Amino acid sequence: MAYTFITGATGGIGKAFCFLLANSNEDLFLTGRSKDKLDALKKDLLAVNDKIDIITYPCDLTDELNRRDTFLYIDSLNIKFKRLINVAGVDIQKGFLAYTDEKLVFQTRVNTESVFSVTLGFLRRIDNGILPEIITISSMSGATPMPYFAIYSATKACLINFFKALRVELKGKAKITTVLPGGVYTRPDILKDIKGQGLWGKLSAKTPEFVAKKSLKAVKRNKKILIPGFWNKFLYFILKITPECIKLNFIKNRWKKQEKDAF
Ligand SMILES: NC(=O)c1ccc[n+]([C@@H]2O[C@H](COP(=O)([O-])OP(=O)(O)OC[C@H]3O[C@@H](n4cnc5c(N)ncnc54)[C@H](OP(=O)(O)O)[C@@H]3O)[C@@H](O)[C@H]2O)c1
Repeated sequence: MAYTFITGATGGIGKAFCFLLANSNEDLFLTGRSKDKLDALKKDLLAVNDKIDIITYPCDLTDELNRRDTFLYIDSLNIKFKRLINVAGVDIQKGFLAYTDEKLVFQTRVNTESVFSVTLGFLRRIDNGILPEIITISSMSGATPMPYFAIYSATKACLINFFKALRVELKGKAKITTVLPGGVYTRPDILKDIKGQGLWGKLSAKTPEFVAKKSLKAVKRNKKILIPGFWNKFLYFILKITPECIKLNFIKNRWKKQEKDAF
């Protein structure tokens, strides 16, 4: 059986993909940084369906040697793939001048370099005769430059552009969908952010299960971009028609008071 490769499997959205696919009898290859979290996730998934094969491998995606080891491990087990779900990402949020060099490299590597690298490794290991599926979780933040969230929005926009180009290179050879969620109820700090957005947060935020389900359906249809939820589609439209100076000033005033780190 061919496997689904999921990065960021131990996070909120990653787990939602894992449980949906486990319920559909899909074999899984899961990564995250923490062996303990991966072991716990595997146990929970097997409690739902013990007929599937679940292989986990801890990998710090910022580390190219660790990524290489992951693919060596995959080859040692002769694992072949049918689907890749790029979920891992870090949402450090602060003014550009407040970044340390380490944080800059960390966020850029996880959000972009590692996605390219894992996607290439995946495409070299497709099971024979399978039309592979690639889902990538970008963000609504990738739809516009965002002052005070500039690195995050730039890295998420980079993914949108990259996969649009790859779709053309791999036309007929892979189905590729990039997902631009708005708020998703995952970590406590994100729940707090969504609550702080008042009515807008209530209307637009989605559960991880909703995002995962819509994404798996969208990639079957080879949909280029998926924006989960009516209000997020509406926001995307507004962002596209609003003059950039108005939009960016609004975003600057909205986000300049907020800082968030990720480790
Ligand atoms: N939640 C939202 O509102 C929202 C909205 C739009 C887009 N997104 C995007 O959706 C994705 C998942 O978000 P989430 O809310 O589920 O986040 P989360 O719960 O914080 O999960 C993040 C995942 O990424 C993994 N990760 C982080 N740094 C890593 C590294 N250096 N190497 C390997 N894995 C690493 C984490 O692994 P560990 O378990 O090892 O930490 C975890 O599995 C992200 O790309 C995020 O940008 C989220």
